[in-house]
Amino acid sequence: MEVVILPSADRVADVAADIVARLVAGRSRPTIGLATGSSPLATYARLIERYQREKLSFAGAAAVTLDEYVGLPEDHPEAYRAVIRREFVDHVDLPLDALHSPDVHTDDLACACDRYDRTVTGLGVDVQLLGIGSDGHVGFNEPGSSLTSRTRVKTLTTRTRQDNARFFGTVDDVPRHVVTQGLGTICDAGHLVMIATGSTKADPIAAMVEGPVAAACPASVLQFHRHATVLVDEAAAVGLRLADYYREAHRHKPGWQPL
Ligand code: F6R
Repeated sequence: MEVVILPSADRVADVAADIVARLVAGRSRPTIGLATGSSPLATYARLIERYQREKLSFAGAAAVTLDEYVGLPEDHPEAYRAVIRREFVDHVDLPLDALHSPDVHTDDLACACDRYDRTVTGLGVDVQLLGIGSDGHVGFNEPGSSLTSRTRVKTLTTRTRQDNARFFGTVDDVPRHVVTQGLGTICDAGHLVMIATGSTKADPIAAMVEGPVAAACPASVLQFHRHATVLVDEAAAVGLRLADYYREAHRHKPGWQPL
């Protein structure tokens, strides 16, 4: 796991966007894993700017979303497919039929989860953007999730529903159930890029990076991944015991070794 401490949330977005842009420019059929929530929004804004200004094209790319609420109508503004279209996909040339997300509007959710897992695995995610929940969730894998889990239905914790109430108005409006890529599914991606900014992320980031690998902090599974990059601003880094070492390692990173 490589931890990169950057001076501001803006720089975090720049570096995350650079990683995605390098993938998209360098491969003919790349697959990008997209997260929702607030954390990647500035990254999406940077990628849209690069599409508009530099003609960075997503025409040959595919994208997969991490998770989706169960029980919201398809056109609900907080349905994650709608969010990802509004914040990113509808502003670039990524074809809409190349945007894959879990089908939550079916009577057979279990079957739809298996199908989505096969879709994600079949495409092979090159770079997966991630955010972290205040309880250490990644995707919507809440504490207690199996570290090898596959796409399935999960129940959100009260804490996550309270955190996400800001998007809905009241906590009662936040769905209880979601479909999420499992931790095993997420870890199949070639490169995991965690984006975390602000002081509310300091505790979960410290637990993820320096705590034990445990289902109690699902994001800690990233410690097992061969290529996980953790992009944090100063506020999100305050709980890291080895912060000085991460800074030094980044300062002396060999030029031939990109993030
Ligand atoms: C969203 C997702 C979640 C969020 C996490 C952090 O697709 O998978 O894991 O990344 O809840 O949310 P924000 O970024 O809003 O703090």
